[in-house]
Amino acid sequence: MGLTLGVASAKVGHEVYFVDINPNVVSKLNRRISTFYEAGLQESLDSLFSNRQEIAFSTMAELFKSNNIRSAIYIISLGTPLGPDSKALLGPVEDVTREVAGYMTDQDLIILRSTVAVGTSRYLIEQVPTITNLSFCPERTIEGKALEELSTLPQIISGNSSKAEAMAQSYFSTITSSVIKAGTLETAELIKLASNSFRDLNFAFANLLALISQQHGVNVNELISLANFRYDRNKIALPGLVGGPCLEKDSYILSQSFEGKHTDLLLGARYLNEEFPSKAIEFISKHGASKTTKVLVCGAAFKGKPVTSDTRGSFVFEIVKGLLDIGIINTNITIFDPKVEEVIHGIQVVNDYLQIDHDFQYMIQLTNHDVFESQSFDDFVMSHCAKIVSFWPKNQALNKSSTKHLFLGGLKSTV
Ligand SMILES: NC(=O)c1ccc[n+]([C@@H]2O[C@H](COP(=O)([O-])OP(=O)(O)OC[C@H]3O[C@@H](n4cnc5c(N)ncnc54)[C@H](O)[C@@H]3O)[C@@H](O)[C@H]2O)c1
Repeated sequence: MGLTLGVASAKVGHEVYFVDINPNVVSKLNRRISTFYEAGLQESLDSLFSNRQEIAFSTMAELFKSNNIRSAIYIISLGTPLGPDSKALLGPVEDVTREVAGYMTDQDLIILRSTVAVGTSRYLIEQVPTITNLSFCPERTIEGKALEELSTLPQIISGNSSKAEAMAQSYFSTITSSVIKAGTLETAELIKLASNSFRDLNFAFANLLALISQQHGVNVNELISLANFRYDRNKIALPGLVGGPCLEKDSYILSQSFEGKHTDLLLGARYLNEEFPSKAIEFISKHGASKTTKVLVCGAAFKGKPVTSDTRGSFVFEIVKGLLDIGIINTNITIFDPKVEEVIHGIQVVNDYLQIDHDFQYMIQLTNHDVFESQSFDDFVMSHCAKIVSFWPKNQALNKSSTKHLFLGGLKSTV
């Protein structure tokens, strides 16, 4: 997210430098190679930084050694994965904040962009006395459309002083036309967590409806579309897998932010979403699998739309492990994803399904990539896969085409 915001800033004329602890990231950025797929990112890297040599550095010290930097905005956008206690890991963010604050004057601003527990910004200000101005401005863009959304979404800002707020306002006003001041740092922190946890809850509700529907022979797709039809009070989501580096953790971080009962509402939803993929393995196990069973797993990125190559928080790891655990050997498992170039549990992901020339007893569809909705893919599946387990009732092509599918959530369970 630091990279996309940096690129959006360079686009409107800011002089941007990147600091990253990972030497591979630094080396690639200095060669203008994006470290992941994001629409428009590679093109922007090519065009925006062509007149500069080094744009990325391994440490702040290196950056300052070779550049004369005055009056800076320091954006901290480190990852905040969960630690073993299911709380956001704060140590690296605190260390970097301390390091950055060592360079800052009262003309500078730190923008904390990482997703953090409520109260973290104020905690950092208390812990690091050299911080002058600090603003928490949540990152709310969606992977795959981040560059577009940076200039179109309202940008929430906050600050430890009116000066910090004014600096954040002036910076973000160069990127987007809508900048909104949150009353406090905590409000801005909570807005981020509330947004993602709300989505997580919504999807969990849909997934629970899917399981209930399945027990009663109800078509969950029909149920949800009829319940929502011209009934504005309902905005029930469709069921599906809920993964990714943000949704997998933000409900935990919101729970961490509350000392009181009832966080089980959030955690219960999260657990349901975490357990949902195991239904595919249960289904295959029940319908018979041996080491010779061939399985095609479609969708290795954590989502299909908008397109991403990101596998963090993807259920592909668990699904493939589940298949291996029920005795299927890895040479009989094929993983297809148009954008992912990784080896998962020893299996190289295939990027073009037309290169797959054998048949499968099962196809498991994990994401809703556009490719999976094409007629050509449908034809491929119909001729090469005996049974289909799909987490996406939205996939109308497969839905219509056969009775050999199990759509999790009871859409079709005629196998
Ligand atoms: N990925 C998303 O779609 C998204 C959306 C909204 C918010 N967020 C939040 O934004 C933050 C960043 O997410 P991300 O997906 O970009 O994370 P990321 O892990 O992909 O990127 C963080 C980068 O920071 C670098 N880094 C780690 N420690 C460092 C250090 N000590 N000094 C310098 N660099 C260091 C890493 O090498 C990495 O390149 C997270 O808190 C996340 O929750 C992410």
